[in-house]
Amino acid sequence: MNSRPELFPDMLAYAVEHKVPIMDPDALQVMKHYMHLTGSRYILEIGTAIGYSAMHMLSVSDDVKVVTIEKNEDSYRTARDFFKNHGVAARVESILGDAKEVGTGSLSDTPFDMLFIDASKGNNEYFFETFSPLVKDGGLIIVDNILLRGLVVEEEIQSRNRRRMKEKVDMFNKRIAASGMLSSFLPVGDGLLIISKKEEGTNA
Ligand SMILES: C[S@@+](CC[C@H](N)C(=O)[O-])C[C@H]1O[C@@H](n2cnc3c(N)ncnc32)[C@H](O)[C@@H]1O
Repeated sequence: MNSRPELFPDMLAYAVEHKVPIMDPDALQVMKHYMHLTGSRYILEIGTAIGYSAMHMLSVSDDVKVVTIEKNEDSYRTARDFFKNHGVAARVESILGDAKEVGTGSLSDTPFDMLFIDASKGNNEYFFETFSPLVKDGGLIIVDNILLRGLVVEEEIQSRNRRRMKEKVDMFNKRIAASGMLSSFLPVGDGLLIISKKEEGTNA
């Protein structure tokens, strides 16, 4: 149970009031811990929402920079306002657009230390295939909500959309488990998948 003081109470209050889905505090803390341990400083985030997880990642160190993609214009604008109000706008590149259309061409050639995927869950595989090549060798890829609020262990799912979503997330999780990459499924928050961009058992 997370009982740390909230670093960004204004953003948390906004998220609660406007029902914006943001990252679970314990999962967020684990992600920041991984950033500390790996020295990750240059982050690509898919799914900005109002910029709450980005603000937390920026809080890890003054030299953290975040490039973040959001398709919802209102959320994109709210996030930009928060970044400005918190004095970190110069360390954030906010991109408005569907990450399935933005592609990689407009992103910098400098390899990212870490990719954080937290957008439409059925597209995790697509986001992974598209954006993980931009992560440096040995870098981190973190995917949130891999438990889909328990949906992944439900046997009888009535809704066709929810069934399809579960199948897609299952497929992605299995693909990563079988990929030979070093990966861990952590049952914290709504489930975090942590992948190191390296073959398990190699020094590469
Ligand atoms: C769970 S929220 C992100 C929460 C945020 N990372 C945080 O913890 O503060 C998911 C966000 O991804 C955005 N999104 C969903 N599909 C997307 C896509 N294909 N491209 C860009 N953004 C997308 C949604 O509009 C939503 O704002």
